Amino acid sequence: MPDLQIRRATADDVEIWRALRLEGIAGHPEAFIVTEQAARDIPVDVDARNLSHGHRWLAFLAGHPVGLIGLSPNGLDRARHRGEIGPLYVAPGGRGQGVGDALITTAISHGQTNGIWQFELFVNDENVAAQRLYGRHGFEVAGAIPNAILGTGGPERDLIMILTLSDQRQIPDI
Ligand SMILES: CC(C)(COP(=O)(O)OP(=O)(O)OC[C@H]1O[C@@H](n2cnc3c(N)ncnc32)[C@H](O)[C@@H]1OP(=O)(O)O)[C@@H](O)C(=O)NCCC(=O)NCCS
Repeated sequence: MPDLQIRRATADDVEIWRALRLEGIAGHPEAFIVTEQAARDIPVDVDARNLSHGHRWLAFLAGHPVGLIGLSPNGLDRARHRGEIGPLYVAPGGRGQGVGDALITTAISHGQTNGIWQFELFVNDENVAAQRLYGRHGFEVAGAIPNAILGTGGPERDLIMILTLSDQRQIPDI
């Protein structure tokens, strides 16, 4: 295993977060819902505030930032058991070394300790690398969204992938 460190991002990491996200969008526009311009237009303090909520992580290889992941817990009372994974990005130099695995494991583990037992995500149906990664963690295809994103080559289709940790299922008092 290379010198891999995953740590929770804080508001102080906002420039690292923004740089990695922009790099990801530029290289893989189909993998992000926001466009490069829209990402640039997000005020830095908005990104910093989002990072301060504690549901974002960064990956470092030998101290160099190479990846990011987010988890968005569903805030509604009756959907508190659900969380959406994304964005997820590993820079080309960090791929194939377990960085994506470690980021997903971290996000799921954090979600579990916060009562989340169903994890959901959207992935472009041509993004086989990401689908294989998610599949290894138990995510299954639950459906598809036609015309999910209007790409440069036309409408693109997304798959919905879901991981339900049935053994952790709890019905909270509402
Ligand atoms: C998808 C992604 C997060 C995978 O990250 P990773 O840390 O390389 O993950 P893994 O090491 O598990 O590799 C996943 C797959 O990438 C491919 N891969 C492996 N090494 C690679 C490399 N050096 N370069 C490119 N792709 C590689 C393989 O197909 C691998 O699948 P396999 O292990 O079943 O053969 C990363 O490729 C990425 O950020 N892609 C662009 C953004 C994106 O697609 N995000 C997900 C949006 S839903």
